[in-house]
Amino acid sequence: MDKLVINGGNPLKGEVTISGAKNAAVALIPATVLIDGICTITNVPNISDVKISCKILEEIGAKVEWISKNELKIDTRNITNTTAPLDMTSKFRASSYFIGSLLGRCKKAVVGLPGGCNLGARPIDQHIKGFESLGAKVEVSQGRISAEATKLEGTHIYLDIVSVGATINVMLASVLADGSTIIENCAKEPHIVDVANFLNTMGADIRGAGTDVIKVKGVKKLTGNSTYSVVPDQIEAGTFMLAAVATKGDLIIKNCIPEHMDCLTAKILEMGAKVEYNDDTIHVSASQRPHKANIKTQPYPGFPTDLQPQIGVCLSIANGTSIIKEGIWESRFQYTAELNKMGAKITDQGKSAIFEGVEKLYGAPVEATDLRAAAALIIAGLVADGETTLTNLAHLDRGYENIEEKFRKIGANIQRISEE
Ligand code: EPU
Repeated sequence: MDKLVINGGNPLKGEVTISGAKNAAVALIPATVLIDGICTITNVPNISDVKISCKILEEIGAKVEWISKNELKIDTRNITNTTAPLDMTSKFRASSYFIGSLLGRCKKAVVGLPGGCNLGARPIDQHIKGFESLGAKVEVSQGRISAEATKLEGTHIYLDIVSVGATINVMLASVLADGSTIIENCAKEPHIVDVANFLNTMGADIRGAGTDVIKVKGVKKLTGNSTYSVVPDQIEAGTFMLAAVATKGDLIIKNCIPEHMDCLTAKILEMGAKVEYNDDTIHVSASQRPHKANIKTQPYPGFPTDLQPQIGVCLSIANGTSIIKEGIWESRFQYTAELNKMGAKITDQGKSAIFEGVEKLYGAPVEATDLRAAAALIIAGLVADGETTLTNLAHLDRGYENIEEKFRKIGANIQRISEE
């Protein structure tokens, strides 16, 4: 079992380059099932959720080749198997996208119920509502979802909840359907726009991604033969922006889309740090303890739930008391118990938490409770006095590429130690 040993106290300074977005990449890979051809995807984050998505693709008949560390060549001409390996699909959330894409292409899909971070109940009723509305029969039993249709027909779907996963999955299932599909009350995250742009590059006809209403005009075939670059990771960029704030650092964050960060930037300014945008870079600098701020997480363009633990670390050392209200997940404050072991004063009240800012955090042994909690606890280790050891790194490796190396290059004292 690996652990990270972090010695805090160094302000982070220098330049860091952001990778392609995990939550886009894990949707683009299943989306290739809809292509009857070959495509190349660049700026792919080399992380474990991506590697397992590629393995699933291979198991169902695709040829997948890493042509460099961050480039994939995928040949999906011979998709033969409509059952995605159940043990692999149950390891992460985005495996559910194989239902939409296999159903779209083969009119049949069997996929294990998706796993992923434990953030409370993670139902997929809206995905199922969309598949059924397109004409599929869907059954959930014995830990698997089976969907089948003789024909998928364009339809009008209103999603009852703004859901990233349901928006993407219904879009995938409707790309090759007969006629047009209108999806209302869609999520608008940058990775949704990225999936639509990818599919359009490969021959689909999708309009409106990034707004509440997406229109998909069914096409006969996606031919591929194109190259597509994954959008920069909004959450990784935000993680480094907040690491600069917490450590009173000075960071140039490269290869990001500043406009995707507007909501976070507004909060960072409220906390008293400086932010400047310049083309595809963001400069964040802080010289004082953060001011208190209140946060409510919401679907995009609201404050992202996936940056909630990282901003929680900044608020744990802020000047004053702050409140965070979690608007997406039932259980996203598990990291606060770990932060309290480091001297923070946080009261978890279920869907909200009160952060009484303390002057200092102290190094301690802590455990990553989920992916973003892992990133937050690294930031906490970097501001704390003394040594922090962070365990349960499988969460971290699912979603951040080379994170400790990236932190080391900007001055962090952080080492990975492998232990049997
Ligand atoms: N929901 C339903 N029914 C559904 C689908 C969702 O009730 O059919 C509820 C969920 O329980 C939740 C809310 O709707 O309360 C939003 O869930 P959403 O479907 O948007 O989340 P997701 O697609 O499962 C993705 C990201 C998460 C991120 C959320 C919210 C991927 C692979 N995962 O999850 O990312 O927190 O959107 O932005 O894209 C992470 O990267 O650390 C992570 C957890």
